[in-house]
Amino acid sequence: MSLTNFPGSSSSGNSAGIPKVTMPALSEMKRQGKPISALTAYDYSTARLVDEAGIDLILVGDSLAQVVLGQDNTLAVTVDEMLHHTRAVRRAVRRALVVADMPFGSYHGPIAEGVANAVRFVKEAGAEAVKIEGPRVELVRELTDAEIPVVAHLGLTPQSVNRMGGYRVQARTNESAARLRADAHALAEAGAGALVLEGVPREVAARITAELAIPTIGIGAGPDCDGQILVFHDLVNLTFAPPAKFVRRYADAATLFRTAIERYREDVEHHAFPSDSESYHLPAPARKAVIEMPDDSDAVVNSDARQDFDEFGAA
Ligand code: KIV
Repeated sequence: MSLTNFPGSSSSGNSAGIPKVTMPALSEMKRQGKPISALTAYDYSTARLVDEAGIDLILVGDSLAQVVLGQDNTLAVTVDEMLHHTRAVRRAVRRALVVADMPFGSYHGPIAEGVANAVRFVKEAGAEAVKIEGPRVELVRELTDAEIPVVAHLGLTPQSVNRMGGYRVQARTNESAARLRADAHALAEAGAGALVLEGVPREVAARITAELAIPTIGIGAGPDCDGQILVFHDLVNLTFAPPAKFVRRYADAATLFRTAIERYREDVEHHAFPSDSESYHLPAPARKAVIEMPDDSDAVVNSDARQDFDEFGAA
């Protein structure tokens, strides 16, 4: 069957009639000078909010190891865990480009193994592109040949934390900046569709952005990139740690959630939740029968009365 002009195909739109963001669309945005907004998401509800807010690219980042799973760094998260979260995000998203982060170890061995793992993200989780860290030029070429769009990631690459000796701004010397620039060009030439630049001086990111035809998406890389990405939990203050310099907090979800949870606990402790109007009731005759039921009776509620229990509505 030909998919040309097939209205429901993901390249032209979706069942809701919303134009889908694609990898080529991101390059077009760069050409038109339109900034690209990107954010991480790891589950259905946040992905829905992020997508409905009009964010262009949603990354199921391996940062989920830290912000969702409570691990110290991103190294331990597995392919199966990333697939599980990518599926949840994919179910929620109508418009944004869904990019799955390939976790540490899933593309560091033979290239064929990296390609096979990337195929799983597309086939089993519905990812529309994968992100890989570092100057893995040959792998990018192979993935592109295998029809898998790639977002490359250079600069502070968190999966290299042990080699880097911590999370440090990269490309601070002429030599390392030149290397980063050369790597960026090589990845673009190999077919990467976009490049995340993390933790690099503004001037270096600006130069690379000006030179590449593909869009750069910055995080801690200054305002001159073609787009910006943040970790969702940083944006809304759900990280339980002081934010990095480049993070801007747009909401205080920790305070909002904490207050709601404490109010709920207090209401339960003071018998103020649930109220009578938040309870289900028997119809009048059955109510009377239950109230007047002798203590040792195991009488069953009749079928009319059961109806009220069976219909768990919103109100
Ligand atoms: O895993 C992640 O969240 C990332 C960043 C680019 C946001 O890789």
